[in-house]
Amino acid sequence: MQEKMKFGTRCVHAGEKPDPVFGAHTTPIFQTSTFVFANAGQGAARFAGKEAGYVYTRISPNTPTHAVFVEKVAALEEGDAGQTFASGMAAITAVVLANLKQGDHLISTNVVYGCTYNLFSEILSGLGIEVSFIDTTDLGKVRAAFQENTKMVFLETPANPTMNVCDIGEIAGMAREHGALSIVDNTFATPYFQKPLQLGADVSLSSCTKYIGGHADLLGGVVVGSLDFMKKLAPFVEYTGGIMGPHEAWLCIRGLKTLHLRMEKHAENALKTAEFLEARPEVEWVRYPGLRSHPQHDVAKKQMSGYSGMLSFGVRGGIEAGRRLMNSVSLCSLAVSLGATDTLIQHPASMTHACVPPEVRKKVGITDELVRMSVGIEDPEDIIADLEQAFGKI
Ligand SMILES: Cc1ncc(COP(=O)(O)O)c(C=O)c1O
Repeated sequence: MQEKMKFGTRCVHAGEKPDPVFGAHTTPIFQTSTFVFANAGQGAARFAGKEAGYVYTRISPNTPTHAVFVEKVAALEEGDAGQTFASGMAAITAVVLANLKQGDHLISTNVVYGCTYNLFSEILSGLGIEVSFIDTTDLGKVRAAFQENTKMVFLETPANPTMNVCDIGEIAGMAREHGALSIVDNTFATPYFQKPLQLGADVSLSSCTKYIGGHADLLGGVVVGSLDFMKKLAPFVEYTGGIMGPHEAWLCIRGLKTLHLRMEKHAENALKTAEFLEARPEVEWVRYPGLRSHPQHDVAKKQMSGYSGMLSFGVRGGIEAGRRLMNSVSLCSLAVSLGATDTLIQHPASMTHACVPPEVRKKVGITDELVRMSVGIEDPEDIIADLEQAFGKI
């Protein structure tokens, strides 16, 4: 029934039901580490998976608070099941380590969040998993990258921080032909603007720290996919224990209730900001998937229903001019992360992507002059006025 409701209604209602004990209208925070069994037989049956129910907060389905969040986010991503994590990185780590082993090959988008790059290039490679970082905007290069042992394709689109967009449907199709899993990091777009599972991917994952939580007050991650995928993931989660806490799950429920409203405003403001930047003489280039000048605008238009709140741009005068700009903003905060209600500005080459080797950054377009903005939901005139006064100081 929830599947048939429109997206905004699902944001508000999916997974929600009055608390069966006291009738609390909003989902309670089950701040507990363990659950009491009626008798020894019930405990044994739950551990054996013969009876549904809660056991211990590290073990899926964790707590009733987690269950509501998972039901809501799965309804939005249009997937069958989900699993929460302590952070976006914990989610990515679990997905790759639970599905890849020594001798397997992973194809990854060449522009990904800095820690994802290092997880793949250092930790996976150290475990004997072969990783190819490919320009996934070029379908020919993706096709040529498949090997006998390719078991997974990991896409980040739009990509952090260059805003590259790759064709999820086409690449998921190639992965399927080769018997490989396709995973999409949907953090930038959110399920409001992009539904990777509907486009053919096996898994959509997000850092909840960003738009899902939406208020820059939590760390979390979530993975959505088929019931079979989640069953395979469950032992890894249970043995490694990187799950979300009950309070964060509750904050994510609350965040998702306004996802549709926030994302509309983020996107509206980002487009206005991108158009303002494009017209500034101090700006060399702007990358926002909603601009016609974006190299993959047509792909973005095909697979996204809107372009979210993230953009990057290059300031004439390079890093020094960019630094002066970032030091001169006053409404915008100079901070990493994204998806907050307020506008954040940062310098990937020295901050979020400082861990990526300089030669790799240069090769994939994470240039020193690139400034990234997470455009907030303030009145856009004020964001633009802040940038305008900052440009006056560079
Ligand atoms: C696209 C993307 N994926 C994953 C992550 C990691 O998320 P977290 O900080 O919640 O571990 C980030 C963090 O910035 C990100 O930008």
